[in-house]
Amino acid sequence: MAQDTKTATPATAIGIDIGGTGMKGGIVDLKKGKLVGDRFRIPTPKPSTPEAVADVVGEIVDELMKRDEAPAPGTPIGAAFPAIIDDGVARSAANVDKSWIDADVDAIFTERLGREVHIINDADAAGLAEARYGAGKNVKGSVLAITLGTGIGSAMLFDGKLVPNFELGHLELDGHNAESRASASAREREDLPWDEYSKRLQRYFSHVEFLFSPKLFIIGGGISKRSEDFLPHLDLRTPVVVAELKNNAGIVGAALQAALHFKLVD
Ligand code: BGC
Repeated sequence: MAQDTKTATPATAIGIDIGGTGMKGGIVDLKKGKLVGDRFRIPTPKPSTPEAVADVVGEIVDELMKRDEAPAPGTPIGAAFPAIIDDGVARSAANVDKSWIDADVDAIFTERLGREVHIINDADAAGLAEARYGAGKNVKGSVLAITLGTGIGSAMLFDGKLVPNFELGHLELDGHNAESRASASAREREDLPWDEYSKRLQRYFSHVEFLFSPKLFIIGGGISKRSEDFLPHLDLRTPVVVAELKNNAGIVGAALQAALHFKLVD
């Protein structure tokens, strides 16, 4: 008998992490917060309009649904994207194709796939996944997950619940948009040695700490692999840890938020 996706708790769901260069999807075990099987990647189309991206989301889902571990047909799909996402509608496009602004992404993806899709900001997805399964598990009060990549993403969790669209990468600091100075891509672009880059991170994190007094900072994004190069240089009263879900945080968080949104899990 087919699984009734509205009443049965699904064991797995599909999550897709849409980035500037690659789109990665995987089947997520919702109890463990881990991928079942390998992730599947397709380069992000150019231009990366919502419609072109929807087609690639469709290809990724088709591939994943052929696998033995695939969720029941019709189980909602989660996607993560680097923009402000307000009830499924994109409201910014800092480092992505401007055609996303005001696009009803949930509607476009849902129509293309013929099954429900729910989208979330990429850093929010990563933060949500860390709060439930990773470095922020069981932490009470406010936790700020900060991703350092092409931009700076941020997620605010309070008692494990997401406060969406924090966008702290765009704080103005010393007359600059913070992510233009302290993202991982700023370090690469300016070829900054780690001690110089760490000074920028120190300035950024101490300002964010002053504003929000979180109980914990979680640092994610590709750069978290190099944490030994910058963590020892940071002097903050807030504990700082590295994200545990690594490269899969976006996929796991995307699947989780869809399951939460459609009330498939609590
Ligand atoms: C965007 C955020 C995104 C972050 C990380 C920023 O430029 O404004 O929405 O979460 O980059 O990708």
